[in-house]
Amino acid sequence: MARRRGDVKLMGTSYQRIAALDAAVHMRTFARKPVLFVRGEGMCLYDDDGREYLDFMSGIGVVNLGHSHPAVVDAIAQQAAKLTHVTNLYHVEHRADLAADLVGMFGAEARVFFANSGAEAIEGAIKLARKWATANKGPEARTIVTAWRSFHGRTLAALAATGQPSKQEAFEPLPGGFVHIDMNDIDALDAALDESVCALLLEPVQGEGGVYPCTYEYLQTARRLCDERGILLVFDEVQCGLYRAGHAFAHQAAGIRPDVMTLAKALANGLPAAAIVAVPAVADAFAPGDHGSTFGGGPVVCAAARATLRELAAMDAGARALEIGEHLSRGLAEIAENSSAIVEVRGAGAMVAAELARPVAAAVVDAALSRGLVLNNTSASTLRFLPPLVCTRADIDTLLEQVHTLLDKDVL
Ligand SMILES: Cc1ncc(COP(=O)(O)O)c(C=O)c1O
Repeated sequence: MARRRGDVKLMGTSYQRIAALDAAVHMRTFARKPVLFVRGEGMCLYDDDGREYLDFMSGIGVVNLGHSHPAVVDAIAQQAAKLTHVTNLYHVEHRADLAADLVGMFGAEARVFFANSGAEAIEGAIKLARKWATANKGPEARTIVTAWRSFHGRTLAALAATGQPSKQEAFEPLPGGFVHIDMNDIDALDAALDESVCALLLEPVQGEGGVYPCTYEYLQTARRLCDERGILLVFDEVQCGLYRAGHAFAHQAAGIRPDVMTLAKALANGLPAAAIVAVPAVADAFAPGDHGSTFGGGPVVCAAARATLRELAAMDAGARALEIGEHLSRGLAEIAENSSAIVEVRGAGAMVAAELARPVAAAVVDAALSRGLVLNNTSASTLRFLPPLVCTRADIDTLLEQVHTLLDKDVL
């Protein structure tokens, strides 16, 4: 099989048939790129012509172990051959062990609920916070404070929590009870956390908003104010968690712990898995019947997630994420020094953004794909890099060289 990186194929039997069918039968929610990926291995993706691409996006921060990691593939195959589904009404192998693994990583007593996506985990966390508040603060404390520019998902309450009006307007009326504040503004936080509030919901590192980390001081102040005022601190670690930002959970860098945390994306390295982790005093607000899921916590996904967590710990993924982030950020900063094309580099671990001087980020992504690199942009001027944590320095050097060429030669 050919191993060269190269032009995106625009014609070809498989691609042509699937792209045409796709356009005819799918809703128009995604503007898909002109490539058909058929295989993945580690850092690399391969199209139907055998062309190789370096993936700096990881399926939006999902395949932290790289594509088709053998330990995860084995875990899925073994469990799928044995038992795939019986619902949450029965015990199955792997579910409780996975929950125990997450509690161990959390570092304090906690209880876990399994869901299938980030938005679902957020919906559950919102319900949990309000149920907890009903018993512990009174029925008036319904408000959940979140940040502008945040992203918490596409379902209605998760969308209401999201701090991006442009994504919300067409879908109003959204569920009420959400107040948005500027992230990293401690005075605004202090003013917002009044007696009507039951929870503060933050991404420790905003992802879809363009990779904006909360300062440690902001996170620590949030913890203190929530403690003083009897408000729940909820961290959305769907994107920044699971070693992406350099620690098992991004908040650990600030030396604090939330009351509730949501996880998804990287949990099963590509299978749909999500979790809510909550300290017992909060988790116990849920009684049987309050919340549920048909598929969440299924044995195949849980087996995959256990293998994922085992491998991530074995490779010291947090340290790898920090090394990747440092090398990538330094390289982007060097490009910025030599060219006016990049105006800012932001990041936390292997979650990095380059802010461009001109709104050409989508054109960079498309041109990079033609050159065998999978990149992503979160806005017209923001490139976001979320490489698998198996990414090498040589991979990053290839990326930097290509990004520099694309920006420098003004080929866009
Ligand atoms: C921080 C955060 N929360 C929630 C979500 C929603 O996750 P999902 O797309 O799995 O519903 C995302 C997705 O990008 C996210 O980044």
